[in-house]
Amino acid sequence: QAVSLGRLQFSADVSEGVVASDVIFITVGTPSDHNGAADMSAVKAVAVTLAQSMDRYKVVVDKSTMPVGSSKLVAKIIQENQPSPLEYDVISNPEFLREGSAVEDFLNPDRIVIGTDSERAAGIMSELYSPIRAPLMITDPASAEMIKYASNCFLATKVSFINAMANICEAVDADVKEVALGMGYDRRIGFEFLRAGPGFGGSCFPKDSRAMLSIARGNGYDFQLLQGVLDVNQAQQDIIVDSINGLLNEKSRVGVLGLSFKPNTDDMRDSPAIKVIAGLQKKGHDIVAYDPVAVDNAKKYLQNITYAAGPYETAEGSDIIVLITEWEEFKYLDWRKMKDLLNKPIVFDTRNCLDPQTLRRIGFTYQGIGR
Ligand code: UDX
Repeated sequence: QAVSLGRLQFSADVSEGVVASDVIFITVGTPSDHNGAADMSAVKAVAVTLAQSMDRYKVVVDKSTMPVGSSKLVAKIIQENQPSPLEYDVISNPEFLREGSAVEDFLNPDRIVIGTDSERAAGIMSELYSPIRAPLMITDPASAEMIKYASNCFLATKVSFINAMANICEAVDADVKEVALGMGYDRRIGFEFLRAGPGFGGSCFPKDSRAMLSIARGNGYDFQLLQGVLDVNQAQQDIIVDSINGLLNEKSRVGVLGLSFKPNTDDMRDSPAIKVIAGLQKKGHDIVAYDPVAVDNAKKYLQNITYAAGPYETAEGSDIIVLITEWEEFKYLDWRKMKDLLNKPIVFDTRNCLDPQTLRRIGFTYQGIGR
């Protein structure tokens, strides 16, 4: 609809886009380089190209997650590559949307952060975002850049914290879901991001935690707490592999439900499924897996796997079901049918999203995380 109304146009020509716009968002990827730092090559390349096409004052917005100091860096690249000196401001406006709920998150953000020292740019950005109802915070560029990293690293810390708690709950016979609920009622803690599981994955938490560690290191600070967050995350998948292996007495056929790093996306980047499956294969088990959307992507990350057409086909002839991604459809399976299809009625629920009591009543051996 936006296209037919002439409000949205696509072009592969950077200069056409630059000339037509007052505000230009840089949204290219900033993946981890070999040292864990953010790889800025795409950002630098785009800054050069847009500088060459500038025809009047522009606000250039760093939307991608970039290390502290990036807005200064982009501003310098623009200055060096402009054909003639034109005014511009480079500002930081980090994006907090999640995969799988991107439009909803963009339209209903918890806050909008603008990092700039320019009143002119701040005014333009405030006007641009005025239709969106959310607190608008205008701060300096370095703080805006830090807010993004600090937020993702803090959320990653919450996940690793509850995963560590889950491992202790397992040992002391407590249920981590109850513990998380009890913690969540404390408004200072909140209910969110306290779901124990196979560890965080995706394109942001692992990458941004590594980048933050690199920023800290580069500034002479040894961020041990954040290193611990990544260590707990790494270990979580080894713990799961050992636990699954402990439930199987011999080389077995393992049926895996879910491969993407979380539901409603086909993204396999840093998905816990990769390490769990590799670990199980190393122990000699055969893998049959199903995911509603991520199979094409999964083929780039996983080898020697049989892909099944659905959850029931995954169960057929398998010795255990391991649920790795909490897709909605897995919560409503006919578990009696699953039991008939499986060689052995064992389910390992790495997301604690199934009902242990129901499954045990049917005759399953149920294993969750920290329950
Ligand atoms: C995240 C941030 O939430 C978002 O603000 C930022 O812009 C990009 O990074 P995303 O990676 O899409 O978004 O997914 P998110 O829903 O935050 O989950 C990240 C990972 O943490 C997933 O692997 C998820 O399974 C895991 N997670 C999340 C848990 O294991 N437990 C939880 O309680 C919450």
